[in-house]
Amino acid sequence: MNETLDNIFTRRSVRDFTDNPVSRQDLELIVEAGLSAPSAHGKRSWHIAVIENQSIRDRLTEKLQWFRPVKVAATSILVLGNPSAGVQKEYWPQDCAALTENILIAARSLGLGTTWCGIYPVEHNMEMVKSVLEIPRNLIPFGMIGIGHPLKSDAFRERDRADDDKRVSWNPNWGIEGS
Ligand SMILES: Cc1cc2nc3c(=O)[nH]c(=O)nc-3n(C[C@H](O)[C@H](O)[C@H](O)COP(=O)(O)O)c2cc1C
Repeated sequence: MNETLDNIFTRRSVRDFTDNPVSRQDLELIVEAGLSAPSAHGKRSWHIAVIENQSIRDRLTEKLQWFRPVKVAATSILVLGNPSAGVQKEYWPQDCAALTENILIAARSLGLGTTWCGIYPVEHNMEMVKSVLEIPRNLIPFGMIGIGHPLKSDAFRERDRADDDKRVSWNPNWGIEGS
């Protein structure tokens, strides 16, 4: 198996971290990987905010227990959508999702653990983030990613593949005549 596939297959959400910081060099590579994602019409309707400050992360997570990985990780990234950058404004969530996944895989390849914490489209989550940060009016908070060095030695492992075959149809005959 090649390294890229190995990184994809063993990327798992990591929620426990060591105290080791994430180097600036690694963070820059991770950001660059995010910005290399595909986007609708190539319009890149996204924005990345690197949020390293612990007290801001504490405030962002105090009302949302699901956001714990953002609090306890060494650092975090807030992914925001910029709908006005798009040709078709509706595509910004897909752009942000592609960027987010690139970040997760890039971090994995550097030996760093991540958890994607969803914000959009849950109104309550979006309001919570806006109550802490004065987000520019053109941007919409999409998701946060906690990033750090995994605490557990088995943090990177393949997940259970049970039922995966039920989620794939090879050459489905879905009402196509003559097939
Ligand atoms: C849109 C989205 C929102 C998520 N939100 C959270 C979250 O708020 N907190 C959390 O701990 N994990 C969150 N996750 C991570 C999922 O729980 C995790 O990906 C899933 O359980 C599968 O585990 P794996 O990432 O280890 O394969 C989210 C994942 C996605 C894609």
